Amino acid sequence: MYLSFHLLRPTSVFSFLLVTLHLLLPGANSAVFTLINKCNYAVWPAALTTSTNATLPTTGLILKSGKTSTVTAPDTWSGRFWGRTDCNIDSVTGKFSCLTGNCGSEKLACNGKGPEPPTTLAQFSLSSEGGLDFYNVSVVDGFNVPILVVPVGGSGENCSSTGCPVDLNNECPTNLRVYNKSKVVGCQGACSALKLKQFCCVGKYSSPKTCELSSYSLAFKRACPDAYSYPYDYGTKTFSCSSESYNIIFCPFSKKKTLFDTLFRPFVILISVSVVIGIVVRCCWCPAQKQYVDTSVIVRPARPMLVYY
Ligand SMILES: *[C@@H]1O[C@H](CO)[C@@H](O)[C@H](O)[C@H]1NC(C)=O
Ligand SMILES: *[C@@H]1O[C@H](CO)[C@@H](O)[C@H](O)[C@H]1NC(C)=O
Ligand SMILES: *[C@@H]1O[C@H](CO)[C@@H](O)[C@H](O)[C@H]1NC(C)=O
Ligand SMILES: *[C@@H]1O[C@H](CO)[C@@H](O)[C@H](O)[C@H]1NC(C)=O
Repeated sequence: MYLSFHLLRPTSVFSFLLVTLHLLLPGANSAVFTLINKCNYAVWPAALTTSTNATLPTTGLILKSGKTSTVTAPDTWSGRFWGRTDCNIDSVTGKFSCLTGNCGSEKLACNGKGPEPPTTLAQFSLSSEGGLDFYNVSVVDGFNVPILVVPVGGSGENCSSTGCPVDLNNECPTNLRVYNKSKVVGCQGACSALKLKQFCCVGKYSSPKTCELSSYSLAFKRACPDAYSYPYDYGTKTFSCSSESYNIIFCPFSKKKTLFDTLFRPFVILISVSVVIGIVVRCCWCPAQKQYVDTSVIVRPARPMLVYY
């Protein structure tokens, strides 16, 4: 009786509300990461903490296409976020695993385990030098999902968006590709794929002067100039902000299928099919009728329509 009376006292309720509010509101001592999946497939974001004192409330989650989720981090947190793709739970063993970005915890949460390359990484050191947050996106360990980091409400000289927002899988050199059947799902870094000292920047290559941009890292650099593409990629800009939140967007420029696509595509198929039938009829049937037909003229109009695919 006494206890329930005590709990219901206005002052207790008030302090309970204060504590709750304090936990809910991102104050000066926390940062909010908003994970946004704009890919037209599911992404399973994961996080690895590298700071000793500050940890995250979650280290793995699922984001279906179009979904958003937030993770609140202590303001001294350091670590990385990445996206996992094609994740499944084995129906026999019950173990969770992903085709790319797998952390090997066998669960949705990575619980302190890092990603298996190739994986695009978004790296953060909150409240670092001068109280600024430092962040960068790296494809040094390869690429799997396009990522853009957007500071929200922050300020500072070098406080701008960074990332590797384009799909490098499409431009991946053949010997670095990771496939699921015929689909490229990841692009390995030259070091992990080819295991040569000059790509890994070890031995006599272990200095900014001797570790150079290779033809492989150049392909990454061209597509994503703001991202780190090889171990001593010091030419890349450093990004820092005094900010309270960051958006981490997977596939920022993914195209949505529009109504126009839905209606127009069958129409294009219909026209292409009729043009092909027209050519077959004119080339095979008309010569039989002993008429001369210049096929190059007939073939030409079909081309721009087929190029649409
Ligand atoms: C961890 O937290 C303790 C207590 O707040 C502090 O004294 C210590 O310096 C922190 N360690 C690091 C590495 O930040
Ligand atoms: C490969 O891709 C297919 C189609 O997207 C998917 O159903 C399948 O789960 C993927 N394979 C693996 C091992 O994830
Ligand atoms: C990228 O950011 C992480 C976290 O701030 C940092 O540890 C790492 O040194 C940075 N990488 C480069 C190449 O600056
Ligand atoms: C911003 O970046 C430039 C070039 O990387 C650097 O010289 C400058 O010190 C940076 N400013 C801050 C506030 O970090």
